[in-house]
Amino acid sequence: MLGALGRKPTLDRNLRAHPRNWKLYPSGMRVLALLDGTLADPEAPLFRADDLGVMRGDGCFETILVVDRKPRELGPHLDRMERSARLMQMELPDRESWERAGQAVIDAWPWESEPEMGLKFVCTRGIDGGDGTPHGFAMGMDVGQETKRKRDGGVDVVTLDRGYSPGLMERAPWLLLSAKTLSYAVNMAALREAESRGADEVVFTAEDGTVLEGPTSTVVLAQGRTLLTTPPASGVLPGTTQGALFRAAERAGWETEVADFPTSALFESDGVWLASSIRRVTQVRAIDGTPIKADDSLHTEIVDLYESNY
Ligand SMILES: Cc1ncc(COP(=O)(O)O)c(C=O)c1O
Repeated sequence: MLGALGRKPTLDRNLRAHPRNWKLYPSGMRVLALLDGTLADPEAPLFRADDLGVMRGDGCFETILVVDRKPRELGPHLDRMERSARLMQMELPDRESWERAGQAVIDAWPWESEPEMGLKFVCTRGIDGGDGTPHGFAMGMDVGQETKRKRDGGVDVVTLDRGYSPGLMERAPWLLLSAKTLSYAVNMAALREAESRGADEVVFTAEDGTVLEGPTSTVVLAQGRTLLTTPPASGVLPGTTQGALFRAAERAGWETEVADFPTSALFESDGVWLASSIRRVTQVRAIDGTPIKADDSLHTEIVDLYESNY
């Protein structure tokens, strides 16, 4: 029998039935689940060509770190996905669907050989001209060697202009600043620009020279015993990793501050980190070719603070 795509149904029944349903591809490990909790073949087509996620990047997503079967910051990630959908005026399947699909991926992941996983929740606005029913899936992906190398060895970053002016988020909510939409082409282009300049990563800056965020990370500074990050009102994503780090830091007696700061603060701080679910807290070693303070013991303290949550 042919399915909607004019070919055999794409769900691999062996994958569904067999407990070892992960697959290792040249591109890495993949486990895919649908929102009803069934597993699907990661190699098989899943979306129609006229899905708005495919055609316009119109949708939202989350990436959650799972270590030894335990998802980190699952509640804040789901809260943020709901916030993104609200900003986009888009329907989102209920939390139970995401939790069910996420659990199916976790249950199928080969934890003995891969003790950590990036769990993606992806949701599109559905079919162009359709009834607005969103389409989603959960996918487990391994954490690449490059990410692990940067976690251990730190990164060199370049500052790149993001073109935001002060008050833009409030003035132009249709720009969806601070929503985690599927339209990450600009973010990826910025990372290619960094690579072409011989750097690993990017820190975006606003028109007035204040620091925003990385293309896939939150910027965190240490100034004495204070941790500082940019407010979401400046158009950045509220980071779940930064949130977890600040939570632990406050417990340990650090001050935390969420406020705009100029690019010059990056060079004057006691340390700068890029925080995100998959990279955890990665230390910045140089900015625009200039080495900055990157103390090993302070880095260990920051990593330990973040890890103390789990
Ligand atoms: C633009 C942007 N900012 C910040 C982050 C960090 O968010 P989290 O710590 O929740 O992963 C991400 C994560 O991918 C991101 O894409």
